[in-house]
Parts: sequence; structure tokens; C-alpha cells
Amino acid sequence: MKEKQKKLPENFDSFTVNLLKEAETVEGYLSPNEMRFLALLAACPTADGDVLEIGSFKGRSTIILSKAAALADADAKIHAVDPMTAPSETDPDLRGAETSLTDFQKNIKAHGVADRIEFHQTFSYKLAETWTRPIRFLWIDGDHTYKGTKLDFDGFAPHLSDGAIVAIHDVLHEFDGGIRVYMEDILLSPNFGAGGFCGSIGWAQFHGDERAGWQFREEKLELYRRLSRLVPHVVFKKELKGLEKKIYKLKRSRVPRGAVNPADWLRTVK
Ligand SMILES: C[S@@+](CC[C@H](N)C(=O)[O-])C[C@H]1O[C@@H](n2cnc3c(N)ncnc32)[C@H](O)[C@@H]1O
Repeated sequence: MKEKQKKLPENFDSFTVNLLKEAETVEGYLSPNEMRFLALLAACPTADGDVLEIGSFKGRSTIILSKAAALADADAKIHAVDPMTAPSETDPDLRGAETSLTDFQKNIKAHGVADRIEFHQTFSYKLAETWTRPIRFLWIDGDHTYKGTKLDFDGFAPHLSDGAIVAIHDVLHEFDGGIRVYMEDILLSPNFGAGGFCGSIGWAQFHGDERAGWQFREEKLELYRRLSRLVPHVVFKKELKGLEKKIYKLKRSRVPRGAVNPADWLRTVK
């Protein structure tokens, strides 16, 4: 069993400065705060098990996760799954290309992490059918429709280790998958404790024992209330426009989602 790293790796600040410079050369949609947060989650294990990324696109988050996970365990390999065909209506545009695989492979090689990634070129729900490994960090950034995100959560949640982190991207974007799964399956579940947002990443810590998350119930319900005001704007919609978009953004501003301080985060998780 590996030691849980309840302290920041040495030189984490300078490590992330360099990591962001690298990651920003790869096409992708994570903000600097989100990238720093992902690096923190990968570099500081809260449980035993693997890191699994759903949705790799051209490798921006894959590079961050694989480099940061190596701070905790020099031999760490992360798992990543993506059919590389941008099959969902919520996916980035491949601008005429049939696949993002070539760019993904080129990028992970150029950044020296190709041999730290176990890549599964398939749909996440297909991988879930045969997956047996415990997971310490589940990063969901694939199909952002409700059906897609729900399949991801339901497929891999049974493999979460006690203390594992789940993080979902674009919960505060105009898709209904992330926000509904985060609210219904995470905030309303007694098995999740500490949680919150960094940018559009909604995260929480899983506990096998429901009592471990009990102390966070008021915070979770307050977050649930604020998120519930956003839901009517994102279900049954393709794109928000005009006044409705302004109202959505106003309501979203009531959800705390600033940069996460690593030392505070380490004190919050168990
Ligand atoms: C927003 S992009 C991922 C961005 C990436 N995490 C990054 O940091 O740049 C979404 C990706 O999810 C992939 N995808 C869509 N549906 C999927 C599914 N069911 N399983 C796995 N990946 C999926 C798409 O092919 C696309 O590459």
C-alpha cells in the first residue's frame, strides 16, 4: 500500500509554473487555475489506486496528470480513455480531422510522458464493462451530456477507493451532464464529504463509510441550492443567448469557484 501524500511535494509551486507553461502549448480548454488544481489532485493522493482520465482530446490534462502523479510515485502510470473521434455533441470541434489521436500521441511524446500513460482508445462506458482496478482519482471530462456523464459516474464509482477524489469538468458550463451528476450523485450522496469548485471543475471526496462525510452536509446542501438555480437554464437547451445568458452568469457568480489554495485543500480532505 502506498503512503497517502498529505503534504505538498517539495517545490510544488515552481513545478506547477513550469507544468502550466508546457500544458499551455497543447490545445485544450482548462484555465490556469483548473490546471493547477488538477496537478494538486494528481500529486497528492488521498487514497490508494489509479488515476483515470475520461476524455483526453489532445492531451492537455493527460500531460498534467501524468507529470503531477509522478511527484507522488515515480513509477506511476495514469489511465486515459477516449475514442478520439469527438463523438458527443458537447465535444470540441476537430475542424475537419477525423481523429485527435495523432495530435494526442505527438503531444504526450513531445512532453516526455508517453510511457506514463496507459491509453484506452474506446468509449468510457465500454472500458467500464471490464474495469477492475481501484481508483484514487477519477477525472471526468468526456461526454458532457447528462446520459454520458451519468454513464461515466455509474460505470466507475463502484471502483472508487475509500478517500478517492472525483472531479468533473464543465459543471459550470452550459451543459446539463456535469451539473446534474454533481448535484444528484455527489452532493446528495452521504458517501461524499469535502468538495467544491475550482473554476468549472466540481470535485468531492468519496468515503466508503457514510459517517465520514456527515460533517460536510450543510456545505453540500448550500452548494446544491446555488447550483439548483442554474439547472433550469441548462436542461433542454442547446445554447444560452442574450438576457438568459446574463441571468445564468449572474446566478453562477454565487457559486464559489476561485483558485484553490493547496495547503487549505490538504487540510480539508481526509
Ligand atoms: C473536452 S474534451 C477533453 C479535454 C481534455 N481533458 C483536455 O484537457 O484538453 C472531450 C473529449 O471527450 C471525448 N469523449 C466523448 N465521449 C466520450 C466517451 N463516451 N468516452 C470517452 N471519451 C469521450 C472526446 O473524444 C473528446 O476528446
